[in-house]
Amino acid sequence: MDDKLNVRRFVDIHNGTLKPAIYADQEIYDLELERIFGRSWLFLAHESQMPKAGDFFTTYMGEDPVIVIRQKDGSIAAFLNQCRHRGMKLCHSDSGNTRAFTCPYHGWGYGLEGGLAVVPLEQEAYRKNLDKSKWGLIRVPRLAIYKGLIFGNWDETAPSLEEYLGDMAWYMDGFLDRRENGTEVVGGIHKWVIDCNWKFAAEQFCSDQYHAPYTHGSAIQVLTPTPENKSEGKPLGDGQTQRPAWANGLGGVQFSENGHGSAFFFTEKPDANVWVGGEVSEYFRETYPEVERRLGSVRGLRLAGHNTMFPTLSWLNGTQTLRVWHPKGPNQIEVWAFCIADKAAPSAVKEALQLSHARAFGPAGFLEQDDSENWVEVQKVLRGYKAKQTDFCVQMGRGFEEYRKDGIPGLTNYTFSETAARGFYQRWMDMMTSETWDEIEGQTKEYQKELVHG
Ligand code: FES
Ligand SMILES: [Fe+2]
Repeated sequence: MDDKLNVRRFVDIHNGTLKPAIYADQEIYDLELERIFGRSWLFLAHESQMPKAGDFFTTYMGEDPVIVIRQKDGSIAAFLNQCRHRGMKLCHSDSGNTRAFTCPYHGWGYGLEGGLAVVPLEQEAYRKNLDKSKWGLIRVPRLAIYKGLIFGNWDETAPSLEEYLGDMAWYMDGFLDRRENGTEVVGGIHKWVIDCNWKFAAEQFCSDQYHAPYTHGSAIQVLTPTPENKSEGKPLGDGQTQRPAWANGLGGVQFSENGHGSAFFFTEKPDANVWVGGEVSEYFRETYPEVERRLGSVRGLRLAGHNTMFPTLSWLNGTQTLRVWHPKGPNQIEVWAFCIADKAAPSAVKEALQLSHARAFGPAGFLEQDDSENWVEVQKVLRGYKAKQTDFCVQMGRGFEEYRKDGIPGLTNYTFSETAARGFYQRWMDMMTSETWDEIEGQTKEYQKELVHG
């Protein structure tokens, strides 16, 4: 085991404390790029974004820019978006269709399969001394697709995507596998910058249901018609007269495994969230029998869950937002938010989903702004010397973890707990302090075993 920066001094999962330097320290961040983002399965794109040969999408793995390309044989490949000549960013478009990529600096040209094909003035300048076969783009060595989502991993020794997901796949299916033919991205991608560390956003979507009644208190008031606030606004949903389940603290489950996390409440009706358009509720009700057949009732009804696949892919069931928290230094992230809909949904429903997605969780979304305001303000406090050394408390629900017997998989706890946050930071620490995947997995398993056996 190699703890380069003595990272263990920052995280004490057994006592439920964290040193907030992990959110603000440049050295820790640099190690994260190598050990977390250099070895994890990272979301690249949705298959629906690149149906034809030559379709491409540019994104990031950690801070490394990458191009994801549909190949002529229908497969997908991804490459570091860096020209091999002198390092210029090769492709500057967000997405498109092409037969080749030409570097804007000196004009080296690459094929869809990453090979260097064209070198301007090759004979005159290199005099037959350039071996083009050695100067192709750097390929992302591991690529895998799970139900339409394309993932890449820089580490050839990493476990398979399925192993890495573990029981998280069960939770993910509730978002991606509701209907025959899966999902697609609708509309464009919202991209914006938030001045906070990536772990605040990822961990909150992984674990933090506790903030919702308080942080989103004003939204709850507006969305909930009661005699006191009736005049303040009407619910957007169809027939939604109940307070949102997350405001009532009804029974729910928090899941944690391998750094992934998820939380949801049990609901009785397949209606959409109160901020989603009425036609969406109608659609969810009409298609419920098919969804229940495919997924069972818990996942079929689970329309208010929040989730993070470690490290930086999060989504919200029902609101249909899927987002990546791209890290941009220790103090900043770039959020990329995609609206995901069942492919089989009628276009009016897709449109309604797109609008409600923007209204609630776009860059100016009324719930989105509540969340990011907190992260930005915490990050500002961490400029202080004393503030950086003061322990954070992650003790909620400690000792009450369990494996359930009702078919809901994984290590679980009551929804209002920090089991998934502790699991997130445990996996973070296991990756930051381990040389090999065997070590990482051994440590994580040990931790999960200890939790339920005292
Ligand atoms: S840096 Fe790309 S051609 Fe020179
Ligand atoms: Fe929130």
